Amino acid sequence: MTSPAELQAQADALAWYHSIDLGHGVVTRGSSVQETSADVIPDVSGRSVLDIGAWDGKFSFLAEQAGATRVVALDHYAWGVDWAARGAYWEECIRNGTLPDQSRDETDFWLPDLPGRRPFEFAAAALGSEVEPFVADFQTVDLGGLGAFDVVLYLGVLYHMPEPLTCLERVRAVTKEVAVIETEAVHLQGLDHEALLQFYAGSSLHTDFGNWYVPTIEALRNMCRAAGFSEVRTIIGPPPPPPEPAPGVRLRLGRRIGEIPVPPPSAPSTNYRAVVHAFV
Ligand SMILES: C[S@@+](CC[C@H](N)C(=O)[O-])C[C@H]1O[C@@H](n2cnc3c(N)ncnc32)[C@H](O)[C@@H]1O
Repeated sequence: MTSPAELQAQADALAWYHSIDLGHGVVTRGSSVQETSADVIPDVSGRSVLDIGAWDGKFSFLAEQAGATRVVALDHYAWGVDWAARGAYWEECIRNGTLPDQSRDETDFWLPDLPGRRPFEFAAAALGSEVEPFVADFQTVDLGGLGAFDVVLYLGVLYHMPEPLTCLERVRAVTKEVAVIETEAVHLQGLDHEALLQFYAGSSLHTDFGNWYVPTIEALRNMCRAAGFSEVRTIIGPPPPPPEPAPGVRLRLGRRIGEIPVPPPSAPSTNYRAVVHAFV
């Protein structure tokens, strides 16, 4: 029988994205700095769950532990791509000012033995999990073959998609009840009520998968509606505006300083992680 210290040492020999509690004090040392809080996941007990872009499977395992009847963990790039070779090529593209050819992820940089799935398999074995891994590109997989699930997790994936609306339509197609959509989002001073998408040309943020569209909360909500969801609830929205200045200060300044209007109080423009629940 493996002791907790041995299990920790074995886990430490792998490269983790997620910090996963394997029990007995053993926790994997994940590199993710933006892990979604488990609080945003709705009740999954007695429900089927599809986790799109599951990577090491943290949210799949949490869903299983929370009583989901069936959990499918779907991923593609993080499981099969040779990151060292790809990284060297992307660095070269950035040096030369050219856009990387992302189709090489499917050819030159694809490792069929799926080395990136080892951490998932390790955690599954340690937890005695029955989460079903499914290797597929969600943008192209046959949705009929995949089936539909009560709860669909789409966490940290949308902004990596060059065609976000098409992807949300595909998320809608596999959702029976609710989809949890977590994404990089942008808060623009005074413009959160506008449906705006910030565009990045694939590699311009210099990240692993390429960032394409970063929505305001209104754009995210509208896209979910356009994709066919009937109701969208904001679980995490933009940061609240800072408190109004004290009345004395406002009275002294009035609404203008000379000819210059005093802008309404607002938090500065910033990126944050938005979460919505999109209902069928
Ligand atoms: C930023 S990580 C998020 C991982 C996890 N969902 C979370 O929130 O912690 C993005 C994940 O989406 C996966 N991914 C990106 N595009 C995908 C696609 N087209 N099909 C399946 N998985 C995809 C990546 O391989 C990676 O595991």
